[in-house]
Amino acid sequence: MVADVLQEALQGLPLGPVRYFSSLASTNDEAVSWAAAGAPHLALVVADEQTAGKGRSGRRWLTPPGSALAFSLVLQPRHFPEAVEKPGALPDAGTLEYGYDIPQWVLSRLTALGTLAVSSALQATLGLASQIKWPNDVLLEGKKVAGVLAEVQWQGEQLASAILGIGINVAKDSIVSNHPYGFPPTSIETVLEKPVDRWHLLAATLESLLHWLPRLASKAFLTSWQERLAYRGERVRILRDAAAPLDGRLVGLGRDGALILVTEDGHRLALQSGEVHLRSVVSGLC
Ligand code: BTN
Repeated sequence: MVADVLQEALQGLPLGPVRYFSSLASTNDEAVSWAAAGAPHLALVVADEQTAGKGRSGRRWLTPPGSALAFSLVLQPRHFPEAVEKPGALPDAGTLEYGYDIPQWVLSRLTALGTLAVSSALQATLGLASQIKWPNDVLLEGKKVAGVLAEVQWQGEQLASAILGIGINVAKDSIVSNHPYGFPPTSIETVLEKPVDRWHLLAATLESLLHWLPRLASKAFLTSWQERLAYRGERVRILRDAAAPLDGRLVGLGRDGALILVTEDGHRLALQSGEVHLRSVVSGLC
């Protein structure tokens, strides 16, 4: 039984209650409903199959059965570091140089938390070096192996709860043919050419996530995120829904997690995630 194997893999991790589904529309939707009904901090929803999984920018994220990881964690803001729970206490609050807004800051950090956790777990359990393609993808050999979708619920100016949803392509079968992926996909087993224990990888990802969660506002978090940033120092193209593409060199991350780009005419820009999509000019994936 998958549920038993899952329970065994997660043993010893200080999580909240776990709900496992053999098939579900979307673990994020399930976690949002559970949070609204009072799910505690670190409650976890896991599905073997997702039939209507959600990706960024309204895209779909399909999870065929028996092949991938699809899970969502409920986060209660009272357990966040103070700078996240009360954004007025942000270390950078006095330097609104990039004009970020607070909801965007929280979403950006949570998304980064998911990508950093996946990337660290791939390294720790499988020795795989991956990159974080800002803002929400994890790449292996230049292709997308995982995606993160963070959703936050606000009550007025108060953060009520947050959902961190992660999808990881583990087996070759997790890639669905003819699916309109926004970026070329890959799977861990495609790269490794050997079977991978997905529940072990889930446990390692959650362990890393639990490590970084209290450190969300720390410099160490930003440094680790930036160290794994894809295309750093390279020429990139930013695709924007409502404006012309923007070319430049990717410099790194701002203190608020914005992507810093120097355009060809020497302007330094800080991009918030919003509706922008990053592509490498060097690898020709534009
Ligand atoms: C993206 O790359 O666009 C984000 C993909 C996020 C997919 C995961 S799978 C688990 C969780 N449930 C969802 O409906 N989406 C996220």
